[in-house]
Amino acid sequence: MDKIVILTGAGISAESGMGTFRDKDGLWTKVQLEDVATPEGFARNPQMVQDFYNLRRVGARAAKPNAAHTALARLQAHHTGDVIIVTQNVDSLHEAGGARDVIHMHGRLDGALCSGCGHRWAAPDEMTVDEACPGCGEPFGRPDVVWFGEMPYRMDEIYEHLGTTDLFVSIGTSGEVYPAASFVQEARVQGIRTLELNLEPSSGSAMFDESRLGPATEIVPAWVAEVLGEA
Ligand code: OAD
Repeated sequence: MDKIVILTGAGISAESGMGTFRDKDGLWTKVQLEDVATPEGFARNPQMVQDFYNLRRVGARAAKPNAAHTALARLQAHHTGDVIIVTQNVDSLHEAGGARDVIHMHGRLDGALCSGCGHRWAAPDEMTVDEACPGCGEPFGRPDVVWFGEMPYRMDEIYEHLGTTDLFVSIGTSGEVYPAASFVQEARVQGIRTLELNLEPSSGSAMFDESRLGPATEIVPAWVAEVLGEA
C-alpha cells in the first residue's frame, strides 16, 4: 500500500481529556454552537466568544497526546508511502505526538487571525475583545478557527490528496459535519479503499469498506502495527 490519507476528529483526542462535540456530555450539549462557533455569534458577543476559546486554549495546552496520536506519527515516520493527516481538531496533539505537516482544516486554537486583513499570528493565552492585529494594527483579532458558515482551510489540497491516495481512513469523527463527512464518498467514487476507526458506528459507517470499533488508543495503534507489518 502506498499513499494513505487519514481524517481525524474529536474522538482521537477524547482520551487526552479533550471533549467531543456530539457525544453525551459533548460540547454542543452544553453551549449553543450558534453563539460560539459562527461569525454571527462573534459579532453579537465577541467577549463571550473570546472567553470560550481562551478557556479551550488553556485546556488544549494542558492536554497530552495519547497512544493514537503517537501511533499515527510513527506511521508517518516508517510507512514507505506518503501518510497525510487531515484533522478537524483545533488542538495541536498530532504535532505534540510527533506528526508533521498536519492539515488543520478547521484551524487551530493556538492561532490568531485578523478578520480585517487576514494576517495570522500565534495566539496569546488570553485573547481580548480588542485584540490588535500585529499586521494592520486594527482591533480585529479573532481565534483562527473555522466557524459554521465559513469555508474550511486547504480544501483544494485535501481533494488533491484524496484523488491520489490508495487508502482513506477516518478516525474518531461522527461524520456529521461537511465537507469532511463527504470525504468517504469522494474516495469511494474513485474506487479507493476506505476504513473507519471509531468508538461506535458514525453516520456514514455504511459507506466504508471496513469499520473497526473501539477506543482510539487501542484500535489506532493496532491498525498502525498491522500496516507496518508488525502485527
Ligand atoms: P463529534 O463530537 O461530532 O464526534 C466524535 C466522534 O468520536 C463520535 O463518533 C464518537 O463516537 C467518537 N469517539 C468518542 N470517543 C472516542 C474514542 N475514545 N475513540 C474513538 N472514537 C471516539 O466530533 P467531530 O466529528 O470531530 O467543527 O466533529 C466535527 C466538527 O464538529 C468539529 O471539528 C467541530 C464540530 O462542530 C467546528 O467547530 C467547525
